[in-house]
Amino acid sequence: MSTPPRSSAVFRDDLLRGQVALVTGGGTGIGAAIARELGSLGATVVIASRKAANIEPAAAGLTRELGRPVTGLVADIRDRDSVSALVATTLERHGRIDILVNNGGGQFLAPAETITPKGWDAVLATNLTGTWNLTRAVADGWMLAHGGRVVNITMLTARGFAGMTHSVAARAGVEAMTRNLAVEWASRNILVNAIAPGYIASSGLKRYPSGLIWARQLQSAVPMKRLGTAEEVAWLVAFLASPGGGYITGQTLSVCGGRSLWGDHWPLPDPTPLPEVVVPAEPWEEEEGG
Ligand SMILES: NC(=O)c1ccc[n+]([C@@H]2O[C@H](COP(=O)([O-])OP(=O)(O)OC[C@H]3O[C@@H](n4cnc5c(N)ncnc54)[C@H](OP(=O)(O)O)[C@@H]3O)[C@@H](O)[C@H]2O)c1
Repeated sequence: MSTPPRSSAVFRDDLLRGQVALVTGGGTGIGAAIARELGSLGATVVIASRKAANIEPAAAGLTRELGRPVTGLVADIRDRDSVSALVATTLERHGRIDILVNNGGGQFLAPAETITPKGWDAVLATNLTGTWNLTRAVADGWMLAHGGRVVNITMLTARGFAGMTHSVAARAGVEAMTRNLAVEWASRNILVNAIAPGYIASSGLKRYPSGLIWARQLQSAVPMKRLGTAEEVAWLVAFLASPGGGYITGQTLSVCGGRSLWGDHWPLPDPTPLPEVVVPAEPWEEEEGG
C-alpha cells in the first residue's frame, strides 16, 4: 500500500500551487525541512548544494514523500559560474523562480584569535557573497521582471556569539543586504526577508565536536528550555512565501524560543578568582560614616 503524499501540519495543501521554489542546502537539515514544507504546499521544488551525496538521496526521498518530482542540482553558491548554471537549469526545467530560500551556509566554531585569513574568507564567501551571488542571479534571471519572494536564513547576530565572529559578521551583512534589497526592489514586487534561527535540532549541530552534548546543554540558555525544530523554521518560510507575507519586507525574524533576548551562547571562561564585587559609597555616605 503506498503512503499518501505528505501534507503540511499548518497550511493549506494548495497554498503555493503553481510556484517554483529554489532552496539552497535543501538536501540536509533545515533546508530539507523547508523543501518538504514548500513542496507539500504545492510548490515545485528545486534543491541545490555542493555535494551530490547530500542532494541526490534528498531529491529522491522528497519526491517519494511528496508524490511529485523534486529536482536536485549540484551547485556551489561561492562560484558565480555554478550559480549561473543553477539558475539557467532551474528556469529551463521549470520556467520560473517565485521563491528563493538562501539557506545554504555554514561555519566552524573558532575563537576570533584563531581564525585564519583562509577561514575568514571561506565563511564570508559562503554566507555573505554566496547569498548575494544567487540572489542577484535569480533577480536577473526572473524576479526583477516578474517579482518574487527571497528568504535568507541567517543566525542570531544582535548579541555576542563567542566563537562565531566570522559567521556573525557574514550573517549581519546578509541582514543589512536584506533591508537594502527590500527597499530597492519593493517596486519590482520582490519581497526580501531573513529568518534568524536560534538553536535548531538539525544536521548542522552534528558538524561541531561534541555538537549533540553541547546542544543538550544549550537548552538551558533558551527561555523555552528546548531546541527548535527545522519544521518551525520551515513554517515561517512558508508563511513569508505565502499571501500572508504579502506586506512584510526587509525584516529579520528570529525563530529562537526567546533565545535572542536572554542567556549565554557559548560559555566564556571565567578568570580565577573572579574579582571581588565592591559597591562604591557616595562621598556623602563616607562623610556620614566617618
Ligand atoms: N541548526 C542550527 O541551530 C542553526 C542555527 C542558526 C543558523 N543555522 C543556519 O541554517 C542553515 C542550515 O543549517 P542546518 O542546521 O540545516 O545545517 P547543515 O545541514 O550544515 O546545512 C548547511 C547546508 O548548506 C549547504 N552548503 C554549504 N556550503 C554551500 C555552498 N558553498 N554552496 C551550496 N550549498 C552549500 C550544505 O550542503 P553541501 O555540503 O552539500 O554543500 C548543507 O546542505 C545554515 O546556513 C546554518 O548555518 C543553523
